[in-house]
Amino acid sequence: MNVFVTRVMSKESIEYLKQYFNVKINEKEKTLSKEELLENVSDCDAIMCLLTDIIDKDIIKKAGRTKIIANCAVGYNNIDVEEAKKHGIVVTNTPDVLTDTTADLAFSLILGVSRRIVEADSYTRAGLFKEWGPTLFLGQDVANKTLGIIGAGRIGKAVAKRAIGFNMKILYTKRNRDETFENDTSAKFVDLDTLLKESDFISIHVPLNKGTYHLIGERELSLMKKSAILINTSRGPVVDEEALAYALKSRRIWGAGLDVFEKEPEINKELIKLSNVILLPHIGSATIETRGKMAMMAAQNIVEVLNGRAPINPV
Ligand code: DGY
Repeated sequence: MNVFVTRVMSKESIEYLKQYFNVKINEKEKTLSKEELLENVSDCDAIMCLLTDIIDKDIIKKAGRTKIIANCAVGYNNIDVEEAKKHGIVVTNTPDVLTDTTADLAFSLILGVSRRIVEADSYTRAGLFKEWGPTLFLGQDVANKTLGIIGAGRIGKAVAKRAIGFNMKILYTKRNRDETFENDTSAKFVDLDTLLKESDFISIHVPLNKGTYHLIGERELSLMKKSAILINTSRGPVVDEEALAYALKSRRIWGAGLDVFEKEPEINKELIKLSNVILLPHIGSATIETRGKMAMMAAQNIVEVLNGRAPINPV
């Protein structure tokens, strides 16, 4: 059987797949175009792909003999899951293994934005540090503040765990109340508007779907405190970027930390001009250990499904 891997992934995962299957890999350090994907999927029994591969209806139709699409990410908005289901194709993702890594990045952004780390670094490198000053790069405290978690799933809860160490008060939204989480963290279940009004830091951890597209727009930004800091490590289109750029520029909110963008890898031109936002190139899960585990998990799902067993992480 043939497995098509859309980008170079960890050696271990490829070696593992090679024990069972013929493995074809896109060796270019570049995402394949739709045409290239179409060319490659017709004879494969499994596709191992990334969030940058748009697996739409056309690709799925062309992948006539494919039994599994193993996405090497926890998010799977890049795949038309409904269409895959219609064709009897299993879709899997890589939950859990990236939870701590992504939560670490979200917390780095909380600290980085509040203490203006990137701005201060640029200032220092530019040779502008001539003397210590009492008002030089004044930031905001993190300890004892209120953190609003939009979407207290695995990653949201891991961010909350970190916040406990900073003695933060935690507010959260979630489809349903989570009493175990509340007992563990003293977090308070609130509606979105209350969270937006009362939080000093707001960290987004929802998947992208029709219900979460532009969840944070002009209205929501206008409810936040003027001192609020917004962090997004989930998916770019959850935030209306134009509205956010305006809120940051007009100092309607204090700052933002973004690891994801609406039209990735394109970055809103207004955001680039602003110093009160940290912009990162979608590196939430980017550690050597975690990327290795994600690739291995995707490979294991392929091995299970092509051997006629149930997938470990179906979406
Ligand atoms: C995911 O897994 O969805 C992350 O965004 C990848 O870094």
